[in-house]
Order: sequence, then C-alpha cells, then structure tokens
Amino acid sequence: MEIKTVGVIGAGTMGSAIAELFAFNGFNVVMKDQNMDLARSGYSGIEKILNDMKRINDEKPEKEIARIENYGIKLSDDQKNAIRKKIGVQVDVNAMLKRISLTDKYSDLSSCDLVIEAAFENQDVKNRIFSDISDLSEHAIIASNTSSLSITEMSSRLKRPENALILHFFNPPYLLPLVEVVPSLYTSDEAKNTAVSLISRMKNHREGMVPVMAKEREGFIVNRLLIPLINSASDLLDSGVASAEDIDTAMKKGAGFPMGPLELADMIGIDVVVDVMEVLERAYGERYKTSVILRRMREANRLGRKTRIGFYKY
Ligand code: NAI
Repeated sequence: MEIKTVGVIGAGTMGSAIAELFAFNGFNVVMKDQNMDLARSGYSGIEKILNDMKRINDEKPEKEIARIENYGIKLSDDQKNAIRKKIGVQVDVNAMLKRISLTDKYSDLSSCDLVIEAAFENQDVKNRIFSDISDLSEHAIIASNTSSLSITEMSSRLKRPENALILHFFNPPYLLPLVEVVPSLYTSDEAKNTAVSLISRMKNHREGMVPVMAKEREGFIVNRLLIPLINSASDLLDSGVASAEDIDTAMKKGAGFPMGPLELADMIGIDVVVDVMEVLERAYGERYKTSVILRRMREANRLGRKTRIGFYKY
C-alpha cells in the first residue's frame, strides 16, 4: 500500500517532531490539535527543528573542509564541492514547511493514508480520539505513539481495528532512529508489513530509521530495560554506595554508555521516569518497585533539566 499523506493528531513535543520527520521524508502532512493556536504552536516548533537541523547540516561539510585544510592541504573549489555533496544533507526548510498543513478538525484527516495519534498519554483521551476517527478511509493505517497504554483497547473503537498498531517513536525522532512497532491482537499482517517497510525506507537528520517489533507488553523493549536501570542507579545513590558523578562515570567508562543513567534521567524528566516505573510495577510486580529517591524528587519538583535541578543542577 502506498502512503502519501500522513495525519498527526497532537502537535505537542512528539506530534510536531513526528510531523517534521514525515515532511523531511517527502510526505504531505496534516497536523491536528485541539484548536488552531495549539496547532500553530506545534508548527513553530517544527520551524525551529528545521532551522536548527539546517544549521547543523550546513556546518558539517564546512567543518570537514576546515579539518582537512588544517593539515596544510589546499583543497580546490571542485574538491570542496565534492565534500559538500558527499556529507552535506540539503534541508530545504520552506519546501518542507509547505508540505505541512494545520487543522483542528478530524474531517481534514479523511485523505490520509496513515494517521499517527500523539495526544496526551491518557487511555480515555486516546479511546475518544479513536472513536472520533473510527471511519477514516478504508485503507488508512491508524497508529498510536503511546508509551504504555493499550492499543487493543483503543483499536476496539475502530471500524477496522485490523488497520491499527503502535508506532513508538523516541524523543527526539529527528535524531533517534528507533521505532518500536507493536501490533494489537487485531492487527493484520498487511498493516504490520506496511508499517515496517515504511519506517525502514525513512531517514531522520542523522541516519536511517530503524523499526523493531515488540509484543504489546508494558515498556516494550527500551523502556522495560532502560527505566529499571535508571531506577537501580537511583537506589545505588540513595543507599550511599556511590556519588551521582561516580555512578554515571562508571557506566560511561566501564560499560560504554554514551550517557550515565542519572544524567539521562534528568534529560528524560524524573516525572516521566516515575510514571513509567509505576506502569512496570503494576504490570510485573515487586521487582520493578519505584526507587524512593525518585518519588521524593518528583514531590519536590526536582524533575531534571526542565526544572533546572534533578540529580544535577543546570
Ligand atoms: P504533549 O503534552 O507535548 O502533547 C500532546 C498534544 O496533544 C497537546 O498539544 C494536546 O493539545 C494534544 N491533544 C490532546 N487531545 C487532542 C485531541 N483530541 N486532538 C488533537 N490534539 C490533542 O505530549 P507528548 O510528550 O508529545 O506525548 C504525546 C504522546 O507521545 C504520548 O502518548 C506519550 O506517551 C508519547 N511519547 C512521548 C515521548 C516523550 O519523550 N515526550 C516519547 C515517546 C512517546
């Protein structure tokens, strides 16, 4: 099935970044929020992402040229242009923005071949949205970007539940290429295959997008492994085994992690970490017990980078 037009419901952090990703890959995008002000605010976020990415992409070949010339080698204009062509990524901000239209009405999603829901992480909100789009065009694939809620429950609101599944993107999708593809009990093989082949043909601003398949079990793959690791690191700190700096240094230098678990927690947001741990605890029991220090930090509004204090000060 060919996908040309993509609808995105919710123009917040993830919705706007997902809309940007599809526009970057040449798709027409219709982005819907609850009202036009919210949709426009998401659009401003997309402009910012595109301009930042354009600046970074424009700088990349120039940095490489400067690096080579630093050896005392003089490159000709042709050689410089060849480097620009080889490692430069053209980001045509205006062309990409033109592919995105905004709406506050579900009826404007009727021509979409794929609709991705990225509204609030609340089962009732998502069930309601699925009811409201229950009879989109017959072939449209309906995806939710939920991190923890039931796609099986959402899909039961659809006329064609076999067309729905979870596409779980990572924040920010313009740099992180992974998408967890999670079918519900209803999802057809055709919908699954269409989604996997679509994702594998896409790229973000850094590399090709990568789909992985997971069963509909809380946390899927990444959150089920990563969030408990952050939780254990928090327990280590709480019990005085090591300082935050030493825990992060140990995991970076001893286990090859690009970031330590506590600095990563500050980046994700302590509130989000606690929310996911509580989902895992409800699903899998005692061994996923939320660390007390994480709960206290949430109560004290020490949520990490966004409140400028978490395990570290910013
Ligand atoms: P957000 O709060 O930034 O944005 C949600 C947006 O949805 C808001 O603009 C809101 O007005 C809009 N919305 C709510 N109801 C709507 C409706 N009926 N129609 C249209 N728009 C509606 O939330 P965020 O962080 O973007 O998360 C969205 C989804 O993505 C959630 O399911 C979340 O679990 C998931 N997710 C979030 C990640 C993150 O790092 N923020 C990472 C991966 C998944």
